[in-house]
Amino acid sequence: MSIFHKIDKDKIPRHIAIIMDGNGRWAKSKGKPRVFGHNEGVKTVREITEVSAKIGVEYLTLYAFSTENWKRPAYEVNALMSLLVSTIDKEMDTLMKNNIKLEAIGNITELPSRSYKSLLKGIERTKDNDRMTLVLALNYSGRWDILNAVNTIIKNNSTSPVDEKIFKEYLSTAKYPDPELLIRTSGEIRLSNFLLWESAYSELYFTDIKWPDFKEESLYEAIYEYQNRERRFGKTSEQLKK
Ligand code: FPP
Repeated sequence: MSIFHKIDKDKIPRHIAIIMDGNGRWAKSKGKPRVFGHNEGVKTVREITEVSAKIGVEYLTLYAFSTENWKRPAYEVNALMSLLVSTIDKEMDTLMKNNIKLEAIGNITELPSRSYKSLLKGIERTKDNDRMTLVLALNYSGRWDILNAVNTIIKNNSTSPVDEKIFKEYLSTAKYPDPELLIRTSGEIRLSNFLLWESAYSELYFTDIKWPDFKEESLYEAIYEYQNRERRFGKTSEQLKK
């Protein structure tokens, strides 16, 4: 039986962030090239996006390409960039039908021009949708974002002290609430430079399931575990019960 019925529908995380990992190993385990795994990973992107919108998640952030991913073999980088274009183009009607807004974080102006243009087109076309925002982290890293924020503050010649609230306004994630739940697939237990500032109080959920096999039920399992954790934000358990 699905774990869905055990989930408290009033406590769905507003923002879920996912490190989609394991495409390459998934493909290798099937004797296929890594790119086959990325293609399959796109199917999971579609499924998890639709399910998230259906259950009332407001923001879904997917780590699609990190600033470090440029170090991969050129053919794989090219394949990922082409996949980005073809996926955005192909999924546009579904995003419109499901009332999902597409946005991006990261140094997107440095993406290959075809990918950049297709991304901007998708962002523009879906800008009035308001059921859920799908945020693609592209050419993104947490340190890049933090340094960007610091340098902008310096450029503005600001002399007054910066607090957390002000600092957040300079991040590329300024508009989004911090993710309550951060998921990483494929058994790796690290953040790999993803949402370093924003994940300070996120519940971290690691699963051995590789991204192409991460399905609707896998998302419910993550949400169920999240709902059964105690989020203390530095307080004691007793304080929370008062
Ligand atoms: C990690 O698997 C995955 C990526 C670096 C890219 C994720 C991209 C997709 C799912 C497809 C494109 C996405 C969109 C939104 C169009 P890995 O290659 O690091 O796997 P491995 O750790 O097994 O080698």
